[in-house]
Amino acid sequence: MRTKIVAGNWKMNKIFEEAEGLISAIIEFMDENELENKAVIICPPSVYLELATDLAAESDLLVGGQNISNFESGAYTGEISAPMLSSMGVDFCIIGRSERRKYFNESHELLAQKVNIALKHQITPIFCCGELLPEREAGKHFDIVKTQLDESVFHLKKGDFANVVIAYEPVWAIGTGVTASPAQAQEMHAFIRGLIREKFDKETAENTSILYGGSCNAKNANELFSNPDVDGGLIGGASLDAEEFIKIIQAL
Ligand code: PGA
Repeated sequence: MRTKIVAGNWKMNKIFEEAEGLISAIIEFMDENELENKAVIICPPSVYLELATDLAAESDLLVGGQNISNFESGAYTGEISAPMLSSMGVDFCIIGRSERRKYFNESHELLAQKVNIALKHQITPIFCCGELLPEREAGKHFDIVKTQLDESVFHLKKGDFANVVIAYEPVWAIGTGVTASPAQAQEMHAFIRGLIREKFDKETAENTSILYGGSCNAKNANELFSNPDVDGGLIGGASLDAEEFIKIIQAL
């Protein structure tokens, strides 16, 4: 059975004290509530990862990075490597977020390298895919998502792919307040699961967690998560407020 997941992508937000307060509030909630077959992940900026893994050490809260280098180590000033993350107890890493693709020109090929290096170091990639508004308007959204998966994760062997989480994030819905309708999310998630079935097999497809991202919040989470192929969410803005984020976890 696939795991239901709520993952918070803080992006470049929060100063140290705020980060500490937010992480502690989530842990307090998790300690008081049994979450069976459900995983909660926070992806704070890398400077707070050690704080997060320290605070979360005795709890069920899981920690992910927002980015990793495609190199193992060496003279790459400012980069953070997969071995560094795993040595700090970080279990996940977001790879392929639309902001990385857009502002940092991350290509399909580079993302494939990042996926490979993450898996090599026992880090589960949360691989993001999704189309731009003009692409959806032109009816190309299925092709775009298929290409993103083909080029950056479908080269994996079945056993490795089993350790990948997919996040469908229509770019027009990210940080805009415009959410994909539950029907639009379900349609794309079912399409993605179908591609996984074709590429690997039925069992792999059934076991892959596919998260929705893009203006998901406490008000719309319930409806989005009630779709059969939506296994949770990758939450941006709404993960920055403990109360809001906890409500989203409760909607799982
Ligand atoms: P948002 O971001 O929830 O603020 O739209 C989603 C994401 O970046 O994963």
